[in-house]
Amino acid sequence: MRRLVSGIVILGMSILAASAAAQTTTAPAQPAQPPPMTNLQIYPKDTPRPELVATMQGFAQALGVQCTYCHEGQAPQFDFAADTKRTKTVARKMILMSREITAKLPEVTSKPAAEVTRLRCATCHRGVAIPRLLPDILTETVNKSGAAAAVQQYRDLRKQYYGGQSYDFSENALVPVALQLTSANKPDDALTLLQLNAEFNPNSAPTYGGMAQAYLKKNDKENAIKNFEKVIQIDPNNQLAKRQLEQLKSSK
Ligand code: HEC
Ligand code: HEC
Repeated sequence: MRRLVSGIVILGMSILAASAAAQTTTAPAQPAQPPPMTNLQIYPKDTPRPELVATMQGFAQALGVQCTYCHEGQAPQFDFAADTKRTKTVARKMILMSREITAKLPEVTSKPAAEVTRLRCATCHRGVAIPRLLPDILTETVNKSGAAAAVQQYRDLRKQYYGGQSYDFSENALVPVALQLTSANKPDDALTLLQLNAEFNPNSAPTYGGMAQAYLKKNDKENAIKNFEKVIQIDPNNQLAKRQLEQLKSSK
């Protein structure tokens, strides 16, 4: 076994030697050199290309996009220097904005510069190009296109992004949206969203609490009671639900 291993090593070494010899005698068959970078306006002009490309890969990952999102052309024929895409121009200003905010943090937090958090693209973007909170997205859709459209949108986003960092799919995201709908006198829309929430989070006390509020708005005491009872079953220390339940039962 030992002899075999050393045989392989010797064979390997002689191949290395042969290829070294080949390189000194013939022109090396190198891949085409990337063109020099000509349009760096933010990063130093002498930034080594691998370093810049690593930064770029960071952008792409932070925003959940490909290089083509900001750059003209398609692999392998990119025109990285061109400033034709709006997104590239925005990205330059985003770099400056992030630096400006980071520079203000020591003053704002009364911490030494070395201790403040550096604001990075991903700090805000978290894997999407337009970083918006899920409750805001859904509220807008309910108001523009109705609750059914918001439910579909939630399902689509969940399918695409669940498990990632982009959106909060926990039990908490839909409840405030629903409570707002109830106060805006749209309890049926609220119930539609809360039923969706219960489908994914069947043990979420705030979800049934939200349903109880929506039924109260509809003057449906029976269903309000049922839902407050569910809240207390899941969360026996919920004093607010207990009080509301008692009130409802005594006024029945
Ligand atoms: C979110 C937008 C964005 C994405 C995505 C992005 N870039 Fe860039 N890229 C920029 C900006 C902005 C600059 C200019 C930086 C400056 O002015 O200093 C740039 C510059 C470059 C340059 C230098 C071009 C030159 O000649 O001046 C290269 C090379 C480059 N990007 C490669 C890439 C690659 C490879 C990817 C994909 C992994 C990528 N970029 C993804 C925004 C982006
Ligand atoms: C302080 C939070 C924050 C940071 C940090 C941040 N962004 Fe943004 N960025 C936003 C917000 C918010 C928007 C969406 C604006 C809007 O509503 O159109 C946005 C939009 C963009 C867009 C335009 C998207 C589009 O399609 O209109 C690009 C490109 C972008 N950011 C790139 C970057 C890059 C690259 C970085 C890191 C250098 C970065 N951003 C850092 C908050 C941030």
